[in-house]
Amino acid sequence: MSVVVIGSLIIDNTIYVQRIPKHGETVFAKSSLVCFGGKGANQALAAHLSGTNVKLIGCIGQDSQGDRYKKHLESNGVSTKFLLHSKKYKTGSAFITVEESGENSIIVNPGANQEIAPGHIDNYSELIAKTDILLLQQEIPEESVKYACKLAKNCNTKVVMNPSPIKPTFNINDFPCDVLILNEIESEQLSGHKCPFKSIEVLGSLGVNSIIITQGAGPILLKHESNKTLEYSPPKVNAVDTVGAGDTFAGAFASALSEGIQIKEAIQFAGVAASISVTKPGAQGAIPSKKEIESFLLLSLIHISEPTRPE
Ligand code: RIB
Repeated sequence: MSVVVIGSLIIDNTIYVQRIPKHGETVFAKSSLVCFGGKGANQALAAHLSGTNVKLIGCIGQDSQGDRYKKHLESNGVSTKFLLHSKKYKTGSAFITVEESGENSIIVNPGANQEIAPGHIDNYSELIAKTDILLLQQEIPEESVKYACKLAKNCNTKVVMNPSPIKPTFNINDFPCDVLILNEIESEQLSGHKCPFKSIEVLGSLGVNSIIITQGAGPILLKHESNKTLEYSPPKVNAVDTVGAGDTFAGAFASALSEGIQIKEAIQFAGVAASISVTKPGAQGAIPSKKEIESFLLLSLIHISEPTRPE
């Protein structure tokens, strides 16, 4: 039961606004938050809190932000043994606006994250060969992500690929993987189809074993092997901040899969985790524990099976 995550660590500077200002306009924020983020670390923490053993390979700067980040991970039980320290770059940072609807826009300054090279990944080839799942995103250099996918495939380690933020040039053939997790925008970009049902059919022919399309509060789609597309509706919640929801989904999903849970149940578990995460502010502060996810799942089962009272 283990997941290796190779990815970014970023300090998120988040501003909560009613709406994003137009060019030349100034608006007042409702509040602001500085917190720990980065898709790699968000996914690693989500997988860890969902109950699996996680190893996070990433890079931070030799600065106070990097030191704070390490302390934060350690206090949450995530080992920092596999983190590199860049002499050249500062710890990555992001500037995020969250609107009243909970929707967000993000600008990332990658900093130290751009230092992860294929050579670094090579140093951890044994770790990758031994783990159940390798979980990847795209906030580190593309060459390194491609290299990690190929390395894992060569030693039969399952690869879960979340190519976020996606580049227009993304070609799945360069990133051999077993599971591809996309949101609706990424799936449209990759398939050329706006309709997610059409999109998943097109992407299903690309040779990836399982394709998952998440759609915010909308149904999550799954195309597994050549079976027909399944959909799962996540629970309805009041979203206050959607930052990191996709990462919570990917991390919780990889954790469940590493425990041998079937893909459909893993999606249900991850869908609940992501729904809980949008009800709280910030990326990592909003990630739920396995206990919280299971209680939520149990509550929905109780709700469904509640006996009807006699008139
Ligand atoms: O997916 C959310 C993350 O994207 C944020 O935590 C931010 O750091 C950006 O990388």
